Amino acid sequence: MRDVAVIGIGMNKWGELWPSRIRDLYVEAALLALDDAGVDKIDSMYVGCMSSGLLVGQEHLGALMADYLGQAPVPATRVESACASGGVALRQGFIEVASGMSDVVLVGGVEKMTDIDGGSTTYALATAADQEYEGFHGVTFPGLYAMMARAHMARYGTTREQLAQVAVKNHENGAKNPRAQFPFTTTLEGVMTSTMVADPLRLMDCSPVTDGAAAVVLSTVEMAKKLKRHPLVKITGSGQASASIALHARADLTWLGSTEAAAKTACKMARCTPREADLFEVHDCFTIAEIMVLEALGLVEKGKGGPATAAGLTALGGEFPVNASGGLKAKGHPVGATGVAQIVELAEQLRGDAGARQVKGAKRGLAQNMGGTGASATVHILEVES
Ligand code: COA
Repeated sequence: MRDVAVIGIGMNKWGELWPSRIRDLYVEAALLALDDAGVDKIDSMYVGCMSSGLLVGQEHLGALMADYLGQAPVPATRVESACASGGVALRQGFIEVASGMSDVVLVGGVEKMTDIDGGSTTYALATAADQEYEGFHGVTFPGLYAMMARAHMARYGTTREQLAQVAVKNHENGAKNPRAQFPFTTTLEGVMTSTMVADPLRLMDCSPVTDGAAAVVLSTVEMAKKLKRHPLVKITGSGQASASIALHARADLTWLGSTEAAAKTACKMARCTPREADLFEVHDCFTIAEIMVLEALGLVEKGKGGPATAAGLTALGGEFPVNASGGLKAKGHPVGATGVAQIVELAEQLRGDAGARQVKGAKRGLAQNMGGTGASATVHILEVES
């Protein structure tokens, strides 16, 4: 297997971007990444996207984006794995370069979610749940994560305040991110009095509906060294795992088994433990999700994610900073783009280019992306060569 480097990164400002079509979003991020890498020729490309068919009525995104980017006839593949589409696309690009099949691969993720009404968006997202056992009965993602939150509160005593602290911390970080959808700060009270969505989760416990894209260019370490444009950032570990989609089929509602398994694979490859990373970008689609991910990654003991967050361990400057970008909560969550944007953030941090949200001296970062309530998950580890 060859070593793989992230040689280019690109991301547009996220939000409700009505003037931009889905192709504009992808191409804008892709061009930023190609420009950052200093290359204009690629061997192949991936498009992580969850639900363009339902959200904008457009499928067949691989060829569409290759053509619109001016890269046809390169092989172009769309990857779907719900909200983990970006992370799984990244892993495909990683495998392609590592295997020697291609030398330069563009991996982008995109979603255009605000062109339809909120109910239709909620339906599109809910198709990533188990339709027969969950979707047909009317349960949506806020509802599913609310059940997980209730179970976590009942078993471990996780409190309403601890959930809210995740949002307060991520908005604090997001306020330092010029590309974030909601770069405002908030308070515990602000979160705990926001509109109820699915008890106990309120509006400020939820990631938003977002338009946006992100892209990275992957290549060999040799090529990165020849280009010499940036500090050398390598992907040293990649893991992917799955679990049952339906919550009722899981032995434990409070445990994200696919994240645990993906982290094990990625860490074995990178020869490190999750704790040895200096910063973490994780899938906080709802505040409870971040708490459960801390536990599944083994950063804290089972049930201790809430107290660790309340104690400030996950804050910028804390013992293990989580979601310096603002996370899905403040940066936004254009579902197919999220996994790729996590890699953009880690690469920027490892290059030392993250400005006001820079994690000082960061040498190794870990990204965790998941689909649905954790039925699919990826974990990637990035390191900068000093
Ligand atoms: N965080 C902070 N502010 C938010 C927000 C969020 N998640 N979502 C919306 N807002 C703001 C809007 O900007 C708007 O502000 P304004 O009145 O100043 O313009 C206001 O809240 C109302 O926005 P609206 O779009 O009407 O909200 P909504 O009630 O239709 O949707 C949610 C809110 C939380 C239900 C929706 O964002 C949602 O479904 N989120 C979850 C998405 C999801 O499930 N993703 C997949 C995860 S697995």
